[in-house]
Amino acid sequence: MSAGNRPQPMTARPGARLHGTAQVPGDKSVSHRALILGALAVGETRIDGLLEGQDVLDTAEAMRAFGATVHRDAPGRWRVHGVGVGGFAEPGRVIDCGNSGTGVRLIMGAMATTPIAATFTGDASLVKRPMARVTDPLSLFGAQTLGRTGGRLPMTVLGARDPVPVRYALPVPSAQVKSAVLLAGLNAPGRTVVIEREATRDHSERMLRGFGAEVTVEDGAEGRVIALTGQPELRPQQLSVPRDPSSGAFPVCAALIAEGSEVRVPGVGLNPTRAGLFDTLREMGADLTFENAREEGGEPVADLVARFSPDLKGVEVPPARAASMIDEYPVLAAVAACAEGRTVMRGVGELRVKESDRIDAMAEGLRACGVTVEEGPDWWIVHGRGAGGVPGGAQVASRLDHRIAMSFLVLGLAARAPITVDDAAPIVTSFPDFLPLMQGLGAAITPEQKAA
Ligand code: S3P
Repeated sequence: MSAGNRPQPMTARPGARLHGTAQVPGDKSVSHRALILGALAVGETRIDGLLEGQDVLDTAEAMRAFGATVHRDAPGRWRVHGVGVGGFAEPGRVIDCGNSGTGVRLIMGAMATTPIAATFTGDASLVKRPMARVTDPLSLFGAQTLGRTGGRLPMTVLGARDPVPVRYALPVPSAQVKSAVLLAGLNAPGRTVVIEREATRDHSERMLRGFGAEVTVEDGAEGRVIALTGQPELRPQQLSVPRDPSSGAFPVCAALIAEGSEVRVPGVGLNPTRAGLFDTLREMGADLTFENAREEGGEPVADLVARFSPDLKGVEVPPARAASMIDEYPVLAAVAACAEGRTVMRGVGELRVKESDRIDAMAEGLRACGVTVEEGPDWWIVHGRGAGGVPGGAQVASRLDHRIAMSFLVLGLAARAPITVDDAAPIVTSFPDFLPLMQGLGAAITPEQKAA
């Protein structure tokens, strides 16, 4: 995604019932990690089901710039020939991570303990996002960084020549920061320890173990204590990427709020550190069932079946659940607008530093659609209008944020009047086939011909 691309306005119209099966793409978090760990293994890793969203393609390109060989054999089927831990070459060009906070933060971690320099940049959204949360712990390993004021991109990282292992307690609940520290710890001698007060997604820990690294996880008084033994030889893997629950959330939520709908979303990853939205929806009274629960590629998966749920009720989302559904609050807010009563979301200050300030972006758009929203620094409340009660009939801004765009397009399917998103182009970062997939279910979503 480049900020210079032409905006692509898109409109969702109410009235259609959604029916059918939605094959959502591979998990974004797992896809980034598969490419990066593949690039750090010795030999050839094969990946099936890789998400081919722009964020992940940018990470693939970055791995090439650091010396790995990365091939696409068929849709979703990739091979990565890694250079080994500590084997990254110095890139000959600036690493452009596009829209992806996960990409840039994980890659910075992965190179921070190798004595090479790399300069990172991104699109108009990414250059506004805070990087000190990763550069602070990376400097403890001995890496040096020079970026713009406030720790913003573009930024140059000079990897440590003689890295030391680190013990680091995360000041914010962030799997990106945790993963950056663990990836940096790979090329430091001894044990690197990360402590998190709240469990965040654990794909890095799972995958590092799969590649042969020694990773222990213990629950202590301080929280989850994750320890990694440095300088392992990572063995190449055969990886199968589960389908992304964060993408599956869109057809699921659309089916719950669009009258008469029933949609099946097979093979969705249900790692407990990711599945909080589905618990919340069920508490709201959603007709949402899990079928054929099984394990695929080391992650729990199931087929989700969502049916129109006319009697959704607002809930208070437990703050302890925030990390397990952090990317799903925008679409939850769309569902909450169609529920009876208030949905209260607290302990979610991290939403303000995502691809956009997601509380502000959703609040502004929902108000334009006739929904009352209250907000504070780390909380917000959506006042539901009940099934069929959202007026809609507005144009809303997606602010270079794929999940804001998709959330309003979902809401437009259940509002009284159409909702137009000013720019749906960012959807390509995580869910390139969103439009044909939703249209295939019967959703009336169409691109507008002219830029707004
Ligand atoms: C991600 C972690 C989360 C999430 C992002 C993906 C990851 O970010 O919002 O979409 O893959 O590690 P934070 O680490 O900033 O919470």
